[in-house]
Amino acid sequence: MRFSERMSRISVSPTAAVVQKADQLKAGGADLVDFGVGEPDFPTPENIKRAAVEALSENFTKYTPTGGIRELKRAIVDRHAQDFGSNYSPEECVVTVGGKHAIFEAISATIDHGDEVILPVPYWVTFLDVINYAGGKPVLLRTREDEDFAIRADAVERLITPRTKLIVINSPSNPTGAVVPPDEMEKLLALAVRRGILLLSDECYCKFLYDGRQPYSLGSSRNRENLIVVGSLSKTYSMTGWRVGFALGSAELIASLLKLQSHSTSNVTSIAQKAAVEALRGPQDSVATMLGEYARRRRRVVDGLRSIPGIRCAEPQGAFYVYPNVTAFLGTEGAAGATALAARLLDEAHVAVVPGPAFGTEEHVRISYAASIEQIDEGLRRLKRFFANLVPAAYAQA
Ligand SMILES: Cc1ncc(COP(=O)(O)O)c(C=O)c1O
Repeated sequence: MRFSERMSRISVSPTAAVVQKADQLKAGGADLVDFGVGEPDFPTPENIKRAAVEALSENFTKYTPTGGIRELKRAIVDRHAQDFGSNYSPEECVVTVGGKHAIFEAISATIDHGDEVILPVPYWVTFLDVINYAGGKPVLLRTREDEDFAIRADAVERLITPRTKLIVINSPSNPTGAVVPPDEMEKLLALAVRRGILLLSDECYCKFLYDGRQPYSLGSSRNRENLIVVGSLSKTYSMTGWRVGFALGSAELIASLLKLQSHSTSNVTSIAQKAAVEALRGPQDSVATMLGEYARRRRRVVDGLRSIPGIRCAEPQGAFYVYPNVTAFLGTEGAAGATALAARLLDEAHVAVVPGPAFGTEEHVRISYAASIEQIDEGLRRLKRFFANLVPAAYAQA
């Protein structure tokens, strides 16, 4: 069968491919350490689950308005206002089937064939594929590992052309955990406004920040006409399977996303919407508990990786990923590339990681530390053993 031309511009998410291979191995009885999946290992908090059960028993099971029930839109904008000092109205909010759906809709609604989209590298792979799917041209902004993958407005500005339509920022970043500081964020938005470009800010990991960094959103800026904020309840409340995300933006932009949604998914599952209201309005202590646990794991995994001779590891400032540099193990003495290395890690050490090429770099792998401390310790032991055997000549006595 011949599929549409646009299908040839995208591929199955490499992260999903790793998850699939890992699942196969697990099903075959392998004792796997899974650093591949970007998913909290905590259960959804009880109060949130109860709200869904109540919604179900009250027969809240019918279509809702496409963009979400008003109660939920209100809860989203109120929480955003409380957390970040923004002032969105429910008309400036659409509830989507996870943050991914909001990104898909935002890019579909704004990008025409040939429009350029500035995307910092390393990027979360979905951005690249959705830009390509929409017919846009990704313009990649290389960031430097020795600067902790910092994104600077002046570097972004150098890439702007008359065809630039959108800048995509994801802070904290998947896959590096890098955080764009608030003053740089403001510069990016000011740049977008000055040059008449849209800025998409993906805040999916906004609550997971370390070393005293305070949650921050560009949504609190006064001049936010050129801004699309994408958010998600998936990671914040450990609700990945519930599929609740949102976009915040001008009423005109949100209306355009809604138009698209009205012909595709329609509303987010009714009972998931009620659960989301509880997540946003109910007690927030589970978020702090999870953050505390991620902070402990981050230290463990970063220190553990740095103790492996040959591995370099930038300090992640947020999210729950670390992006170690494995260059020393690539090439003639080790694996052919990061993809081959990740495949060998999975097959030989039974450790699942996602290879860097999925995120636009050749010399890294992504490790998700949304796994228990026991799993992290076991994974580090296996990595140590694996790498010690991979390039014995260069690093045996290091
Ligand atoms: C950077 C980033 N944005 C958005 C999402 C979307 O998550 P969801 O669709 O589950 O809300 C993810 C999920 O992994 C992500 O890593």
